Amino acid sequence: MTKSNNKANAMWGGRFAAGPDAIMSRINASIDFDKRLYAQDIAGSVAHCRMLVNQGIVSESDGKAILSGLDSILNEIENDSFEFKTVLEDIHMNIESRLRELIGDAAGRLHTARSRNDQVATDLRLWTRDAIDGLDEQLKSLQETLIKLAETHADAAMPGFTHLQPAQPVTFGHHMLAYVEMYGRDRGRFADCRKRLNEAPLGAAALAGTSFPIDRQQTASALGFDHPMANSLDAVSARDFALEFLAAASICVAHLSRQAEELVLWCAPQFGFIRLSDAYSTGSSIMPQKRNPDAAELARAKTGRIFGALQSLLVVMKGLPLAYGKDMQEDKEPVFDAADNLSLTVAAMAGMIGDLTIVPETMRAALEHGFPTATDLADWLVRVLDMPFRDAHHATGAIVGLAEAKGCALAELSLSEMQDVAPGITDDIFSVLSVDASINSRSSEGGTSVENVRGAAASARERFL
Ligand code: ARG
Repeated sequence: MTKSNNKANAMWGGRFAAGPDAIMSRINASIDFDKRLYAQDIAGSVAHCRMLVNQGIVSESDGKAILSGLDSILNEIENDSFEFKTVLEDIHMNIESRLRELIGDAAGRLHTARSRNDQVATDLRLWTRDAIDGLDEQLKSLQETLIKLAETHADAAMPGFTHLQPAQPVTFGHHMLAYVEMYGRDRGRFADCRKRLNEAPLGAAALAGTSFPIDRQQTASALGFDHPMANSLDAVSARDFALEFLAAASICVAHLSRQAEELVLWCAPQFGFIRLSDAYSTGSSIMPQKRNPDAAELARAKTGRIFGALQSLLVVMKGLPLAYGKDMQEDKEPVFDAADNLSLTVAAMAGMIGDLTIVPETMRAALEHGFPTATDLADWLVRVLDMPFRDAHHATGAIVGLAEAKGCALAELSLSEMQDVAPGITDDIFSVLSVDASINSRSSEGGTSVENVRGAAASARERFL
């Protein structure tokens, strides 16, 4: 080890006479959060070390010592016996410093042809890739839960809403499959992000590349990357992979929040469409009758911090000149926090949805309000009487007005009452006014007829599971 005074940083303090101020250490250190990169950091070092040996840059024996030291460090960290030190700033220097304690001076050879700049970029790409793989599995299993519900309740009628007003009858299965599509696109966005992020910064060194005869293909493929990044400046400066991850996470949690909001509404007694299980309900400390949907409310609220994470990294990156800037150390916490909270939210939603009971009677009873088959009546006037749709819409409005005044459903009006509005109406009109007729008439591609929903569930299985 080269000589250094005992106050300056042991890793880079060669030209420093004094150590950092305590506040400087606090703002500079990232070890409290970047220790989560330990496994990726060690994997990157293993790949780099093997390459250095293969290229004859480091001797076989030093290489062996480094690899065995890294292995011990991995064990120490996983057994919780590793001591993380703030004075060593970050995960990279904590590991390298421990390596020196374990194997001596050979440790100093590991950082040949490498910088923390390409190292940290590599680590975070690897970490994000793992996070994406985990989220993909979780979203897939949420989709499976929803598809099963859709299969079981392909024919359970409920009001479909626009403006949260009863619009037309749909089936519960159809409604669940709408979310299956959204989560499918979310998975697609994560997969796109994964494709673009899967190239290796390692070997870019500080910013300009290196004079050592390294083999970047070798380290890239050892770490499962598709290829090395083409430009060394870009390799150490790019964080758009993290932005893309956070953007995909934001859209995904927005979808989750919409479904969470519907669970909140539907389990309220005023709707009563579903009942959450005891396992996913909470009580009130003062009102003994309460069953609160806290998990759904929290899923709805998680949007705040995840959108915030995207915004926060966008602001960090905006206007940053090339290449590395310490600003970029602020990339990790938003990525970790968003990934953790998205994963927890997906798990909670899957748990809640897998456990809920639907109340088909209440859903069907809700169809008695708001004249949800009015469009079917208008469509009949168009189809059978050849009325222009606008006129049919007008006539139907008048018939709805009659039913409203009488306080009855459309099908409870008499034929002559309807004929007062549109003289051509025949008895056949009653065949389209029932909820089931309405649902099953909507057999256009992507529509809600029971047969369609069964087919759509089967196709969703094929496409997503
Ligand atoms: N902890 C740093 C980060 O997260 C590692 C890279 C430090 N590089 C440097 N040139 N100081 O970004």
